[in-house]
Amino acid sequence: MLYALCLLHGGVTNMETILIVDDEKNYLLVLSAFLSEEGYETLTADNAHHALEIVESTDLDLVLTDMKMPAMGGIELLRRIKEKRPELPVVMMTAYGTVEKAVEAMQLGAFNFIQKPFQNETLKQIVNKAVGTYRVLKENLRLVQAIEERYRFDNVIGKSKRMHAIFDIVQKVAHTKATVLITGESGTGKELIASAIHFNSPRRNKPFVAVSCAALTETLLESELFGHEKGAFTGAIAMKKGRFELADEGTLFLDEIGEVPGSMQIKLLRVLEQMSFERVGGTRNIAVDVRLITATNKDLKVEVERNRFREDLYFRLNVVHIELPPLRERSEDIPLLAAHFADKYGREANKDEITISPEAMRFLYDHRWPGNVREFEHAIERAVLLSKGNEITMDDLPKELMNFADLETPIDWQRLSNLPETLDAIEKRMIQKALALSNNVQSRAARLLGIPRNNLHYRLKKHNLL
Ligand SMILES: Nc1ncnc2c1ncn2[C@@H]1O[C@H](COP(=O)(O)OP(=O)(O)OP(=O)(O)O)[C@@H](O)[C@H]1O
Ligand SMILES: [Mg+2]
Repeated sequence: MLYALCLLHGGVTNMETILIVDDEKNYLLVLSAFLSEEGYETLTADNAHHALEIVESTDLDLVLTDMKMPAMGGIELLRRIKEKRPELPVVMMTAYGTVEKAVEAMQLGAFNFIQKPFQNETLKQIVNKAVGTYRVLKENLRLVQAIEERYRFDNVIGKSKRMHAIFDIVQKVAHTKATVLITGESGTGKELIASAIHFNSPRRNKPFVAVSCAALTETLLESELFGHEKGAFTGAIAMKKGRFELADEGTLFLDEIGEVPGSMQIKLLRVLEQMSFERVGGTRNIAVDVRLITATNKDLKVEVERNRFREDLYFRLNVVHIELPPLRERSEDIPLLAAHFADKYGREANKDEITISPEAMRFLYDHRWPGNVREFEHAIERAVLLSKGNEITMDDLPKELMNFADLETPIDWQRLSNLPETLDAIEKRMIQKALALSNNVQSRAARLLGIPRNNLHYRLKKHNLL
């Protein structure tokens, strides 16, 4: 039954491809011969089902389809093509007396229609126009994609103005040796930016060494950074190189720099000024060439004011400052991040093309994400694993994000005597929480609470929250 899919022109070309669909096989042959002569690659299908298979599996530039076919007609075929490939132009061929159908087709998004029987010249004009328009559209799509590529700085995703400003700084400082201080709340991507600087720098083929300065006692930190000689202290059974030495010619990333104890701060300052040091227990001076990047989620200026951080070291570290904004202040990055992580974890879980339901996306968008991108990434990773089909829905998102149990101050149960008063207090808290979670947008808060908007309005009035 299917003789379809006959490739009249072989070989790899960049010719544009037209799929011709008609149940009359002679027509297919005549049309494909004519269009091939006009320089198009042609594919043919003698029924709509097969045409759809081709649409799904082949890169087409135009579909030329008959209107009246047994089983599935041209209108239904058009509708399905538009579902799958809305931008692909479709030209309908109509028999005499079916012009109303042609109008319907145009409303459904057909590019044009042509009435049978037609002159070859008329067909040629319509086809050239459709293919030409699509060519321009595809060119635009390519441009959009190129711009989207720009949103990605290695694996750092962001299209918000603030992230773009950061990408610009990263690009500018990467090729220098300037010391960079990265600040921002936990999970905002400080380490990621540090590695982006390294991997965009001329040092990219040399080591990127990261050390967390927190949770190490002063002695351990010293030996971790500068290494030690054999026998320098009990347990130092062999010589060990420190991170400064290991990062020679590369980049050293000192994370949580705000946690470095006072006496180490002065040693660090000295090393930074001279770019040389001795291993613990050693006397030989070791010179290194290290690019330093530090990060902290503390406000170092405040630490300086409180005499917890040396001002001279602060100036030394703060040559270039990058402040990463919390995710809640750049929610326009959320759809892009969601797509990025859904794709990443979807691939890992062998699920392809994970999509996110509009409701779930709305929620992701509205949530405040106190743990920033890290928390967001985990939520998507988990949702990808939980999702049943290929779509992430509200059911797949962490329930704890949706409950309001973590109200800031506990309700004073002792003081409350009766049920209505207690319920009122809880109600007020939930409303306040919902407002906070939705940045005071009432319609979102109402959605979070699962009540109509006018009902929320009434309750806001009742609790004096307007
Ligand atoms: N803009 C971004 N694009 C893609 N992934 C990101 C982005 N920002 C952060 N991430 C991811 O979020 C996670 C946390 O990032 P990172 O470890 O760099 O944060 P951090 O600021 O160093 O956090 P902490 O202060 O807790 O150490 C990582 O898995 C990282 O890859
Ligand atoms: Mg970190």
